[in-house]
Amino acid sequence: MRDQVLAWLADNVPASRINHILGVEQMAGDLARHYNLNVETAAQAGLMHDLAKYFKPQRLLEMARAEGLEIDQVMVANPHLLHADVSAIVARDTFGVEDEEVLQAIANHTLGRPGMSLLSCILFLADSLEPGRGDSPELQILRRLSCQSLAQAIWLTCDYSLQFLLKTHCLIHPRTIATRNWFLQRAKNEQLQTQRSAGGSSGGCDEQAQRPAGDGSGDCDEQAQRSAGGSALPQAQIIA
Ligand SMILES: [Fe+2]
Ligand SMILES: [Fe+2]
Repeated sequence: MRDQVLAWLADNVPASRINHILGVEQMAGDLARHYNLNVETAAQAGLMHDLAKYFKPQRLLEMARAEGLEIDQVMVANPHLLHADVSAIVARDTFGVEDEEVLQAIANHTLGRPGMSLLSCILFLADSLEPGRGDSPELQILRRLSCQSLAQAIWLTCDYSLQFLLKTHCLIHPRTIATRNWFLQRAKNEQLQTQRSAGGSSGGCDEQAQRPAGDGSGDCDEQAQRSAGGSALPQAQIIA
């Protein structure tokens, strides 16, 4: 199966993107091992996450419509956002992937989704943070966080993406914000639980509200609603 996918990618994706895809495959497998998920499944999701990355906008729209997907105004304006959903369709129809969690992880890799599965979280982070994305201090922080708290890592990766999108005057898809808010809340809840189990604590929402609010970032071509460059992650955002 892996060789079959690689052969397909060689015909449909530039070599530079294949390096990114292999980086995502590797990092998704590494994170899966860290979080006791099936490594092979996560790596397979990584290998297939960008199958439709270079499909033309019209093809993305046609395939999404044929599948009955909801296509909102931001997607009409930027059909490239549909490459995640369409990559899942290609994985199913061309490579026979039936595991719904793998297909969902592929479909969620750009915009995320509130409450998404552990596998989706891992693929979302691997796509943004694989080594080919660069080695800025912000990315180094996010990579460390991805092994400590998935919720914080996803929240702050969304912030990193949002910062980039704002700076480059790109459209922002509402699901990026919904994902960010959901994982921000989850990270705060995790922190409260940690404080309670550590014995008492003052903290809580009031204290959290005094902390600087997050900013964001992403990768515009994927359009990124994910990161590529962008500004520094304020250390004060890191709760851990
Ligand atoms: Fe992608
Ligand atoms: Fe990607």
